[in-house]
Amino acid sequence: MSHKHILIQGGARGLGLALVNRLLADEGNVITATARDPAASQRLIELQDTYGESRLALQKLDITDESSIASARESLGARQERLDLMIICAGLLHDEARGMWPEKKLADLDPSHLAMSFAVNATGPALMIKHFHDLMTHGKPTVIAIISARIGSISDNRYGGWYGYRASKAAQNQFTRTAAIELSRQAKQLICVGLHPGTVDTSLSEPFQKRVPEDQLQSPDQAAGHILGVIAKLRPEDSGLLFDWAGKRIEP
Ligand SMILES: NC(=O)c1ccc[n+]([C@@H]2O[C@H](COP(=O)([O-])OP(=O)(O)OC[C@H]3O[C@@H](n4cnc5c(N)ncnc54)[C@H](OP(=O)(O)O)[C@@H]3O)[C@@H](O)[C@H]2O)c1
Repeated sequence: MSHKHILIQGGARGLGLALVNRLLADEGNVITATARDPAASQRLIELQDTYGESRLALQKLDITDESSIASARESLGARQERLDLMIICAGLLHDEARGMWPEKKLADLDPSHLAMSFAVNATGPALMIKHFHDLMTHGKPTVIAIISARIGSISDNRYGGWYGYRASKAAQNQFTRTAAIELSRQAKQLICVGLHPGTVDTSLSEPFQKRVPEDQLQSPDQAAGHILGVIAKLRPEDSGLLFDWAGKRIEP
């Protein structure tokens, strides 16, 4: 059987963990899941015990540290020569330990919180593409999907607020498009897109769920199913674009 080699960055919880779960159900998939501390992810360890190390490898990776990304690339490259799908899930909206909360007004702007938002949501995903894309230019169809957010769309910004998250996701979308243009010159079959998962019941959205109508809050498993459905239908001409969980285009 020819295996599909998949990298899920941020696979220990939330949407990333749900993607790992779903993808493991297909015997043809060989998955590497990253986390900042994989040894602390009971769920990933249980999945590895169930499916075996040949189906699920765990890899330490901090997206805010380029040397960590480079060493993850080296470890993965020692195990396999190619990747067919990479989904980048890292996202930061609030961090109570740092006193970081989505800004309601200009007076709330804090340079260190903005820098952290950009490191996780924008620079990190761009560095992932920098370090891993060479495994994806082998001529067969490949997909780099960066989990974005509708709120990063500048044309869709009608309510304001959430400066750092909005701006860093907008920057992420620009990185995605710019990388897609460069990569299309190297590999016509490589598709690089941003994907908005909808509102998903995870720790990222948890403090804000009261405002979300019940029928619009997806479980991580539902959202993962939608995201994989959109990825399955992507064509090379979609590269550089941003789609929502239903496959509808979002204007930047
Ligand atoms: N939930 C929603 O309603 C919603 C809506 C729109 C977009 N999104 C996007 O969906 C994606 C997944 O978020 P989620 O909802 O699943 O949230 P989550 O459960 O809070 O997960 C956040 C993810 O980001 C990773 N991460 C944070 N800082 C990191 C760092 N420095 N290095 C590496 N990984 C880091 C975490 O990895 P560790 O386990 O290593 O901490 C974790 O995998 C994010 O891009 C988010 O912006 C979510």
